[in-house]
Amino acid sequence: MSTYIGLDLGTSSLKAILIDEEETILAEHSVPLTVSRPHSGWSETNPKDWEAACAEAIRAIRAENDCADLAGIGLSGHMHGATLVGKDGQPLRPCMMWNDTRSAAEAAEMDANPKFRQISGNIVFPGFTAPKVDWVRRNEPEIFERIDKILLPKDYLRLWLTGGAVSEMSDAAGTSWLNPGTRDWSDDLLAACHLSRDHMPALVEGSAASGSLRGTLAQEWGIPAVPVAGGAGDNAAAAIGAGVVRDGQAFLSLGTSGVLFAANDAYRPDPDTAVHTFCHAVPGTWHQMGVILAAADALEWLSRLTGKGAGELTGNLGDLRAPGRTLFLPYLGGERTPHNDARIRGQFLHLDHATDATEAARAVLEGVAYAFADSRDALAATGTTISRALALGGGARSAYWLDVLATALGFPLDVPQSGEFGAALGAARLGRMAATGEGAEIAVQPPVARTHDPNPALGEAFTTGHARYRAAYTALKDL
Ligand code: XUL
Repeated sequence: MSTYIGLDLGTSSLKAILIDEEETILAEHSVPLTVSRPHSGWSETNPKDWEAACAEAIRAIRAENDCADLAGIGLSGHMHGATLVGKDGQPLRPCMMWNDTRSAAEAAEMDANPKFRQISGNIVFPGFTAPKVDWVRRNEPEIFERIDKILLPKDYLRLWLTGGAVSEMSDAAGTSWLNPGTRDWSDDLLAACHLSRDHMPALVEGSAASGSLRGTLAQEWGIPAVPVAGGAGDNAAAAIGAGVVRDGQAFLSLGTSGVLFAANDAYRPDPDTAVHTFCHAVPGTWHQMGVILAAADALEWLSRLTGKGAGELTGNLGDLRAPGRTLFLPYLGGERTPHNDARIRGQFLHLDHATDATEAARAVLEGVAYAFADSRDALAATGTTISRALALGGGARSAYWLDVLATALGFPLDVPQSGEFGAALGAARLGRMAATGEGAEIAVQPPVARTHDPNPALGEAFTTGHARYRAAYTALKDL
C-alpha cells in the first residue's frame, strides 16, 4: 500500500507524519523550534533550523518505517513569512514571521494605494509578506539588493528538499502580490514594490507536483525520490486535513494564532474588512478567515508569567459559568481581524484581590473567545455565516475553552476523534493528490468524538461580555 509523508512547519515545532492509503498514522515525529522577539512587535526565526528539524523528523520516521512504499510528500507551513534568499539559495537574514508587525508603516502606505486591495483582495496587513520586504528595502538596503527569491517558509523548505523555487496558491495569496481571482502573481503589485516576477517562485496548485525530492537527500535518508506536492499554507492545509473544502464548511483553530476559517466555492473578496480572502489548496476553490494573532499564544504567555503549565491553569475551571468582571484583551502583538491594528497591546481589566492564576486563565480563555466572536461578526458582514465548525489545534484539548467558545459564538463545535494531525494530515493528503491525480474527494471530514453546544442559559451573559470587550478595545486603543 502506498504511503505519504506530510510535513507541517509550525511556529513552535515542525511535525512530520507518515500515513498509508487508509490514513493510518504509521509514524510521526515533532521537533521544537524557537522564535526570537528582539524588539516589541518583531518575530524572527532562522530558516536553517527548519532544515535541521526536517532532516531530524524524516530520519525519525525512517527509523520506524522503511518507507519503501513512499509515493509522495506534501508541505504545510506558517504563512506570510519573508524568507529572502540569495543566488546561492541561502537565507540572507532571519525569516520575519507571520506575527511580526514591525512593518506597520510600510503596510499602511501600500494599503493607501487602491491597487493593492483591488488586485490582492485583501487589506495589506503588516504581517503579510510584501510590507516586510519593503521594510527590508528601507532599513537593510544591502540585503534587499541581494535578494534572488522571496520564499514563504514552507517554500524555503521545498527549495532545500527539491532544488526548485516553487509556491502554491493558498500561501501565495497571503503575500499581497497574488491576484487570488486569476491565481497568478500581479506584475503591477510587484512593480509597486520595486520587484518583478523574477523575484517570485513559480506557482502550482497545492494538489499538483512541484518537483521531486533531491536524489542526494533521498539517498542520505534511504527513501525514494518521490514527488513533492505544492502543499498549502497551514490553515488551508488544516482545512484539507479536516475535510473543510465545500461552501459552508468551517473550522476554528486554537493554535499559536486563532483562525475562524470558512471554505468558499467562489472568489468573494471584501477588502474593506479585515477578513482574509485567499485561494484554497485545490483548484477552483477559495476560503475566507478571521485571524487572531495570539490565541493559544495568550495562554502560553500567562503560563510563562505564572510558572504554571497551560493544563494546570485550565484544568480546574469546573463547569462553564457566566463570565466574570475580569476582562482580558489578547492583543499581545497587535491584532488582524477585525481591527488591523499593529499598535494595540494586551490588557487585563478589572483585577481584584481575588484574581488568582486560575481566574486570570478564565479571563484569558474568555478574551480569546470574544476575539473569535469579533471574527464571526466580521465574516458575517461579508455574507459568510457559520452555523457549526470543527475545533482544531492544541487549545481544543481544553473542554472548558470549547464550552466558552461555543457559547460566545452561538454555534456548536465538533471535536474530531484525532484532530492533532490537522495541517500535517492535510499536507500528506495533498502529497497523495499530487502522486495519484486524485482530488478534493479524498479530503473527507474526520469522525466526530464529541460536540460542544452553546449553553443557552449563559448565552446572554457572554453576549454582554463580548459587548464589554468591544467597548474596552474602543476605549483603550489610543491610550
Ligand atoms: C494566517 C496566519 C497564521 C499563520 C500561523 O493568516 O497568519 O494563522 O499561518 O499559523
